[in-house]
Amino acid sequence: MPLVNTTEMFKKAYEGGYAIGAFNVNNMEIVQGITEAAKEVNAPLILQVSSGARKYANHTYLMKLIEAALAETDLPIAVHLDHGDSFELCKSCIDGGFTSVMIDGSHLPFEENIALTKKVVEYAHDKGVTVEGELGRLAGIEDAVNVSEEDAAFTRPEEVEEFVSRTGVDSLAIAIGTSHGAFKFKGEAQLRFDILEEIQKKLPGFPIVLHGASSVIPEYVDQINKFGGNMPGAKGVPEEMLRKAASMAVCKINIDSDLRLAMTATIRKVFAENPAEFDPRKYLGPAREEIKKLVKHKLINVLGCAGKA
Ligand code: G3H
Ligand code: 13P
Ligand code: ZN
Repeated sequence: MPLVNTTEMFKKAYEGGYAIGAFNVNNMEIVQGITEAAKEVNAPLILQVSSGARKYANHTYLMKLIEAALAETDLPIAVHLDHGDSFELCKSCIDGGFTSVMIDGSHLPFEENIALTKKVVEYAHDKGVTVEGELGRLAGIEDAVNVSEEDAAFTRPEEVEEFVSRTGVDSLAIAIGTSHGAFKFKGEAQLRFDILEEIQKKLPGFPIVLHGASSVIPEYVDQINKFGGNMPGAKGVPEEMLRKAASMAVCKINIDSDLRLAMTATIRKVFAENPAEFDPRKYLGPAREEIKKLVKHKLINVLGCAGKA
């Protein structure tokens, strides 16, 4: 099966009350861990690439790895640009074979966000590529932006209809209290499901995207801290909240930090137990296995998309 855009997968996810996992990829072991998990449970997938990942691994290498995953799995897989920050970057990814892009104009004034997003949509749709826009600002760090908690802002439901109709986007990322990275909540985890509900009412049937949706799995944080790391107070989005979001209008759930934690926790353990290890396969191999285990758990128990390929 060739790479797909997100249209069909979001339609089925909305109707079926589940979400597609959008996992960030940076190297071969991450691509393999994710796609082997999806193959075992027959789940559709979004593999997403940030501009940092593209700089780190090179566009062509990542595309070839994803093409290999496609050949090995025969699953519906979309390749998506995560947090595109300019028309030029989106164009370059579209021209280079991505089937979906995010244009993140969330830091811009409303009219400028609309103008930039519309420009990307016009170029992308002409080539059969789907586009995700964003309204509202998440706190946390991406490589292009670092949004402080004071500058974060929930999505305003009264703006979503105008944004979607004037831009023509295929999905919309919203801010309801999640944030990027491993330190999402100081106290109790809280998400504004009332805002999601209002948005869902204003845009019936329209796919919503949740960024910053790692659960920051405590076992990995404990393992990292036990084997020489230092991540006190790391906290993520509880799984039951993600299940609730997936049963509502959220069709795409973005996960990166949990993959990083799984990998780092595993590699730290290998070195703690065998400080003399110097064969990369002996630590990257177990890290790949742990990613596979984690992603299988997410697909089956959190996103609900196992068996939906
Ligand atoms: O939203 C941010 C993603 O986790 C990607 O992170 O920009 O460091 O690759 P990155
Ligand atoms: P996490 O940092 O919660 O994994 O979020 C990833 C993300 O939103 C990528 O766009
Ligand atoms: Zn994000």
